[in-house]
Amino acid sequence: MTAYAIETNLLDPDIFPQAKGPPHSLFAQWRDKDPVHWNPVNPNYAADVPFASIRKGFWVLTRYADVSEVSRDQKRFSSYDEGFVIWDMDDEELVRQRANFMGMQPEAHMAVRRVLNGPFAPNAMRALTPKIDGLAAEIIDSVAAKGKCEFVFDVASKLPVYTFCELMGIPESYRDAVVEYGNALADVETRTARTVDPIVPLFAICEEICAQKRANPDDSLISTLVHDTTLGLEQLHINMFFMVFAIAGHETTRSTAAHFIYLMNQFPDQFALLRSDVDKHLDNAIEEVLRYTSTTTNFRRTATCDTEIGGFKVKKGDKIYLSYAAANRDPAVFENPDAFDITRANANRHLSFGVGPHLCLGARLARLELHALLRQIVTRIPDIHLAGEPEWLRSIWFNAIVRMPVVFTPE
Ligand code: HEM
Repeated sequence: MTAYAIETNLLDPDIFPQAKGPPHSLFAQWRDKDPVHWNPVNPNYAADVPFASIRKGFWVLTRYADVSEVSRDQKRFSSYDEGFVIWDMDDEELVRQRANFMGMQPEAHMAVRRVLNGPFAPNAMRALTPKIDGLAAEIIDSVAAKGKCEFVFDVASKLPVYTFCELMGIPESYRDAVVEYGNALADVETRTARTVDPIVPLFAICEEICAQKRANPDDSLISTLVHDTTLGLEQLHINMFFMVFAIAGHETTRSTAAHFIYLMNQFPDQFALLRSDVDKHLDNAIEEVLRYTSTTTNFRRTATCDTEIGGFKVKKGDKIYLSYAAANRDPAVFENPDAFDITRANANRHLSFGVGPHLCLGARLARLELHALLRQIVTRIPDIHLAGEPEWLRSIWFNAIVRMPVVFTPE
């Protein structure tokens, strides 16, 4: 493992690529000696990523119990006051972030969540299963005979986007554009390289689809939002939903699938065990990959009052970094936490989907997609292996593989 100085700054976007994931040895030191750790602003980050400003230092929580406590307590720790991501916003950006229900006041958030729970409930997911299984098969059909592909974009990225289109009621003719702009949007921190902000065409697509649903209602999620008068949603709110689902549902699921294949190659004994009985091991293997990798490594809260976290004092207005990656390796909860074990009995206690009122709305859907796609892979191209070193995203937020060539015996 990489040896880190304890003063290493989490605002160094090279940490994840260098460590091939979150800096777990650093988190272990902090959890042990400094569990509510002060991470100052990094002036180099501002120079390096000029469009995404971080003006305030923050407390980093590395213990499972502390991350859970803060996530569950919306009264003391707000997603609304200064947003829920680690970047600091100006007033205009904050207005946009609050139009997204993740950043609304608790009562407004709950009201929207009640409407959205339906389309993500277990029975809705069951109804969607055959469709997702079909889409997963279609994606593997497109590569199976070739014997090689670039896994992240040829395979992993497609299912979340196709599913997103299905859920939102987006006609197939828009799929390619949604794939293109969705991928661009997921590259949150490297977006400056593009001339067109992908938010602009995505909002335009959303507005076109809303107009279609106003004229011809159906049972899609967009149609539900357009026609629900109780919520008083304006077009900006619906555009923000569209964008949140495009990001939240996409990069995260894509990266988990890529990590899954990467880890099965790193731990061939675990891959052999999985292949020996896919039906028995697949779901728990997915939970263990979610725990081990924590693709979304952190979210943020702001203290609404002077208070304590795990016995440490924090002040009103202080910024808090919830490290899901560190919580998922806390030995107080996970025995031998750095071991990758697809039979781990409590793998599904991971915090990769968050916890509390903002618990990931798409967790069931993500599990369904991952199951469908990985089942296709493990049963149809079971000798899949890496054909080169994967490339990691340069990010302070996502633990993501962005390029991973693979080879396998053609079907
Ligand atoms: C492996 C895949 C995924 C991971 C690791 C993940 C991770 C997370 C995390 C950590 C949160 C908590 C945010 C917070 O506490 O502030 C969250 C919330 C959310 N996720 Fe996911 N997510 C995944 C897939 C999805 C999918 C497929 C969708 C939708 C299609 C989705 C939609 C959402 C939404 C809407 C929220 C906000 C919930 C709320 O504020 O009430 N996610 N996700």
